[in-house]
Amino acid sequence: MKKKILITGVAGFIGYSLASKLLSQGYNVYGIDNFDNYYSVLFKKLRIKNLKKNKNFNFKKIDIINYEVLDNYLRKTNFEYVFHFAAQAGVRYSLINPNKYIQTNIVGFFNLMEIFKNKKVKRFFYASSSSVYGDSQKFPLKETEKINPINIYGFSKKLNEIIGEFYSKQYKLNLTALRFFTVYGEWGRPDMFLFKLFKAIKNKNKFYLNNFGNHKRDFTYINDLVNILTKLMLKKDNKHNIYNISSNNPINIKKIINIYKSKYPFNLIPTNRHIADVLHTHGSNLKVFRKVKKKKLTKSRKGIQNTFNWYIKNKIYKIQ
Ligand SMILES: NC(=O)c1ccc[n+]([C@@H]2O[C@H](COP(=O)([O-])OP(=O)(O)OC[C@H]3O[C@@H](n4cnc5c(N)ncnc54)[C@H](O)[C@@H]3O)[C@@H](O)[C@H]2O)c1
Repeated sequence: MKKKILITGVAGFIGYSLASKLLSQGYNVYGIDNFDNYYSVLFKKLRIKNLKKNKNFNFKKIDIINYEVLDNYLRKTNFEYVFHFAAQAGVRYSLINPNKYIQTNIVGFFNLMEIFKNKKVKRFFYASSSSVYGDSQKFPLKETEKINPINIYGFSKKLNEIIGEFYSKQYKLNLTALRFFTVYGEWGRPDMFLFKLFKAIKNKNKFYLNNFGNHKRDFTYINDLVNILTKLMLKKDNKHNIYNISSNNPINIKKIINIYKSKYPFNLIPTNRHIADVLHTHGSNLKVFRKVKKKKLTKSRKGIQNTFNWYIKNKIYKIQ
């Protein structure tokens, strides 16, 4: 019997990418998503269309806020592993619509904890974020560092970790929090820096450069991330554990801008720092590297170039 794996937020960037990898390895993937319209629903539907080409993929449109519907659906199947990625992402939008973060990220997470506390899953992985660290300065940030989020998005992820810790202690639930650092790559998020930059390049449009490009981000390539997760999934671990999923190699945003600015004309408009943004992210990946015996990651220049080529070839700017 093929192992059954549940992925929430499967129409999203990371959910889709992990589902593709697991399907290619012969697993049965059950995916749920509510096709939230935070960014192009068409793009999300294209991801699901791709996944449906594999007969081992099952999809159900479900909102994780709706406990009864969620419980009804999930009680029918025994899953070996769960990857919970459904969330309202994005730090800036958390100032515009904080309620969505409370509903999806906190109530939705709590619903899943309640449903899975009595189900026999081997492990429940869930997406946390580098945003939990806030403006911490002890780089590279280790998982043991104090967490101090500066926006509602980061708070919602910190609360997930606190609730997760509680459910792992109180019930027989093995949980792993994954603190993702700026994930990018093919099928990436249209609301994030790289795809916005690519769109401006393609359309020779305005590009608003936050904080004059003085941020540093620990860009993590999606192919590396899914390789790590498929290995981590099979490892024995503590009842509740936390891992940074990062490249441990922060890049100055200005540096990326300069690479493209010299090749393609676009209208660069430098702006002030956004109050929801942290200045610098840089996570140590030593803990997860040791766990999965990983040594090397894709060079960021290569990962970004692959992403750009894919973006142009597939005309993503038309549906972004
Ligand atoms: N991409 C990154 O750089 C990054 C960094 C840190 C953390 N994360 C976290 O990783 C996870 C996946 O991120 P992503 O980049 O794939 O984001 P994404 O927005 O592409 O995917 C999230 C998916 O969840 C779905 N969703 C939203 N609300 C839902 C609800 N109420 N019910 C069911 N589905 C719902 C959305 O439709 C979307 O398809 C999220 O939890 C995010 O907060 C991502």
